Amino acid sequence: MEKLRQMIFCRRSVRKYLDRSVTEEDKARILEHFRSTKSLWPDIRVEARIVASDEVRFYFPWRSPYLLAVYSEEKAGDLEEVGFRLQQTDLFIQSLGLGSCWLGLGKLRKDAPQVEGLRFVMLLAFGHPDGVPLRTAISQFNRRGLEDISDRRDERLEPARLAPSSTNSQPWFFVHGEDVIHVYQTQAGLLRHRMLGEMNRIDVGIALAHLYVAYPETFRTVQTDAPEVKGYRYVCSFKI
Ligand SMILES: Cc1cc2nc3c(=O)[nH]c(=O)nc-3n(C[C@H](O)[C@H](O)[C@H](O)COP(=O)(O)O)c2cc1C
Repeated sequence: MEKLRQMIFCRRSVRKYLDRSVTEEDKARILEHFRSTKSLWPDIRVEARIVASDEVRFYFPWRSPYLLAVYSEEKAGDLEEVGFRLQQTDLFIQSLGLGSCWLGLGKLRKDAPQVEGLRFVMLLAFGHPDGVPLRTAISQFNRRGLEDISDRRDERLEPARLAPSSTNSQPWFFVHGEDVIHVYQTQAGLLRHRMLGEMNRIDVGIALAHLYVAYPETFRTVQTDAPEVKGYRYVCSFKI
């Protein structure tokens, strides 16, 4: 877990890959890691498969040799759950010396594997990076400040601040309760919402994954009343 925690502070999205195979052993480790990730909502069934690039329609000029395809039961909280679990594996993949990048604008082709009873949700590209080094300084992260993502500056939220998000939208906002923290999703404008609404739910799960990896002993969600915050959608409350 310490290795994953370190990756929070140096990971990056890789969009340039070598034409080089990932070993069967590493592929098996990645799938096993995903199966063992912690759940945000354990009653939601989520599964992953590794697919090849010709089983995917990319809407970007770049390609990756492999992708992790994630499928979920359709239930309240499903997208946050996918974000929470897949981000743990994003950190794991990068800890193996491989590169990865979330691919919201990618679709499985018809002949790609399906999982019965689950709907396809998201892809994470991965492979050997072609000269894309890990970050070596926090200043290399293009992110909003701690004071912009929370009702008060709280250094403990730094791992969430650094989390990746669709189009780097960073749609999370944290409000402190007495001994809990409530997390909200910023509501984008109408047009942006149509494009980003679902992805932003995944993004909030990703930020929570960074908090879990940073504070594995203490992180837990709690059921509690949370204040309404105008312009934000309440997601859940947690302790760290
Ligand atoms: C849910 C999600 C979907 C994303 N979709 C894409 C995508 O379709 N194409 C792409 O090039 N990057 C995609 N990204 C990567 C983000 O652009 C990237 O994480 C963000 O700009 C921050 O950069 P960093 O990951 O290097 O820290 C996605 C990220 C997330 C979290």
